[in-house]
Amino acid sequence: MILDAAASVLRLFPAETAHSATIRLSQAFSPLLPRARPDDSRLAVRALGLNFPNPIGLAAGFDKNAQVPDAMLRFGFGFVECGTVTPRPQAGNPRPRLFRLAEDRAVINRMGFNNDGMEAVARRLVARRRNGICGINIGANKDALDRIEDYRLAFARLAPLADYVAVNVSSPNTPGLRGLQDRGELTRLLETLGATRAQLPTAVPLLLKIAPDLDAHALDDIAEVALAAGIEGLIVSNTTIARPPSLKSRHASEAGGLSGAPLFEPSTRILREMYARTGAKLILIGVGGVASGSDAYAKIRAGASLVQLYSALAFEGSGLVGRIKQELLACLVRDGFANVGDAVGK
Ligand SMILES: Cc1cc2nc3c(=O)[nH]c(=O)nc-3n(C[C@H](O)[C@H](O)[C@H](O)COP(=O)(O)O)c2cc1C
Repeated sequence: MILDAAASVLRLFPAETAHSATIRLSQAFSPLLPRARPDDSRLAVRALGLNFPNPIGLAAGFDKNAQVPDAMLRFGFGFVECGTVTPRPQAGNPRPRLFRLAEDRAVINRMGFNNDGMEAVARRLVARRRNGICGINIGANKDALDRIEDYRLAFARLAPLADYVAVNVSSPNTPGLRGLQDRGELTRLLETLGATRAQLPTAVPLLLKIAPDLDAHALDDIAEVALAAGIEGLIVSNTTIARPPSLKSRHASEAGGLSGAPLFEPSTRILREMYARTGAKLILIGVGGVASGSDAYAKIRAGASLVQLYSALAFEGSGLVGRIKQELLACLVRDGFANVGDAVGK
């Protein structure tokens, strides 16, 4: 309630100021936040060797520096993905770099991996009590001489502190980064991370986060490389560089990645196409434009075992997660599914 009242005032501020204040408020009030009610057992998901209390996760980019994973879990998220974290701290792009497109229920960002770097994030993760699932999303510094080496460094440092690691090769805001989705580069990247993982005492699940702006040929390549490399899953998808002609907001032509409602259809289409290519062999996390229980349900039926969201939080209050879970359960019951797992890809 305190945070909802604060959030409605914060909506009057520029988007990034409001976001930083939300992080600080969540940090300050974390111990006072009432814990969300325990989830209905039909929402539980067993995936990646982990027990998720519910399939609704907070997507990367909200808590880039692992400052508030536990506060977000208390809100009722089934898991939280922190990051993107790079080996060295970096400032990101000049402001303004985050825009709310209220009429379109969308966001455009060109943050450019602003983050505190892997050492600061590792210290926070060590200090954490680890009472919920927290994945870490890793990336390369903008000025990296060898991008793959940056991923290796971040992976080696953070994987032992994470429940899973997401490899972000799909941000449109680091020039050239998405080239790592190409067959040759991706093979080298995933082989390097696989070899690094083999040296760790425990095998942390590895997922690849992909863009929605990929053609059928690129999807074929990614599916083949991911299966051959033995990673556990794909996160589909990051923001899009496309601008649907239907956008109404004055910010529509800002450079960066578009997320929120207009991303729902294209990201769900790519998710379905990936499920057709990988079936039960990979765990898919569906993300892009989820703002309701029926959106989450559509991702699950398209092949997602888990779902994430971010942009809808900019427009809805903290009740959003609880509402989505209730609606999702109603969808499952209506269609005769005993649990989330039964509806995946159906
Ligand atoms: C402000 C902002 C920052 C983001 N930063 C990251 C990031 O650092 N790493 C990443 O993998 N995705 C990042 N994303 C993408 C989201 O994780 C998600 O894939 C995308 O926004 C689609 O979901 P949504 O429509 O629910 O927002 C960011 C999104 C937004 C809006």
